[in-house]
Amino acid sequence: MAVLIDKFGRAITDLRISVTDRCNYKCVYCRTGNDGAIYAELPWADYLRMARIFTELGIRKVRITGGEPLLRKGVVEFVRELAKLRTHDGEPLDLAITTNGHLLADLAQPLKDAGLNRVTVSMDAVDPQTFARITRVPNGFQEVLAGIRAASRAGLKPVKVNCVLLRGFNDDQIPAFGRFARDEDVVVRFIEFMPLEEDRVWSPEIVVRLEEILQRMAAFRPMVEIPRHPSETARRYCFDDGVGEIGIIAPVSHPFCGHCSRVRLTSDGKIRTCLFSIWDHDLAGVMRRGATNEQLREFIVGVIGRKEARHHIGESDFVAPSRTMVHIGG
Ligand code: 5AD
Repeated sequence: MAVLIDKFGRAITDLRISVTDRCNYKCVYCRTGNDGAIYAELPWADYLRMARIFTELGIRKVRITGGEPLLRKGVVEFVRELAKLRTHDGEPLDLAITTNGHLLADLAQPLKDAGLNRVTVSMDAVDPQTFARITRVPNGFQEVLAGIRAASRAGLKPVKVNCVLLRGFNDDQIPAFGRFARDEDVVVRFIEFMPLEEDRVWSPEIVVRLEEILQRMAAFRPMVEIPRHPSETARRYCFDDGVGEIGIIAPVSHPFCGHCSRVRLTSDGKIRTCLFSIWDHDLAGVMRRGATNEQLREFIVGVIGRKEARHHIGESDFVAPSRTMVHIGG
């Protein structure tokens, strides 16, 4: 048995490892602005052991997240070690990283050389002032732009740029992002805002939904939908002249839980089976108590068996998850 299947028949092939919950940005839709980590960071060797065991169980894709993963020294070496792992059927892993891009300019080439395949950069505005208002960092925009360009140059393609849309903050940026996707040859992905922030500011009215994004982009240039893999979270579009790709990730208006292939590891080594889980499962604790690899495998299989059917955003029975995004890993 080399595939993790949950009780709803979903194959779990995608592992996200948060390597820190520290972040040098204070984006309004994510953090309150406190500094430092709340949860522990594990030694690299612990994440690596966990990744190896997950890989034996059928994981094919590993994404390194945070917090801001590039804040942690040794991330390049970690990628190099992950690149040595093989899936149960002998393939290299698909290795990606999600970053705010602030430190990417200098790290893109070393990460590529270490074996990273792709990078996703969070960038919520193409206008520097709007960018500063959202991130609450004065001069980040130029650094992030340099990071995106360095990633393209290093061949970490296609570079994806994530933009969480918040009504009244950056919804006016939609057409400008259309132009940006075409000019910079990156895939821009708009994400519907989910209730995962520390400040509890989420409301249905702040969410800019898929249909509205499509409408507002059409005023810039018409888009056509292009095919995607069912387990992909983003709906994909290109412009009518075939130049530029836009994605829309719509977990609020069009949930994709039925096709979820993900499992997450927090920086303190807890397994989360859903962003909106009420519980997490202490893999690091089991490891510390001296579990063998076989026992860790059994623990993981048991946890995956309890993966939630779906999230309940916007429903009357919605319960806020036990951790916010920065403390889970994107
Ligand atoms: N809702 C939607 N997306 C979010 N992200 C962080 N917090 C939220 C939220 N509350 C995005 C980040 C990053 C990706 C992993 O998730 O911007 O790009």
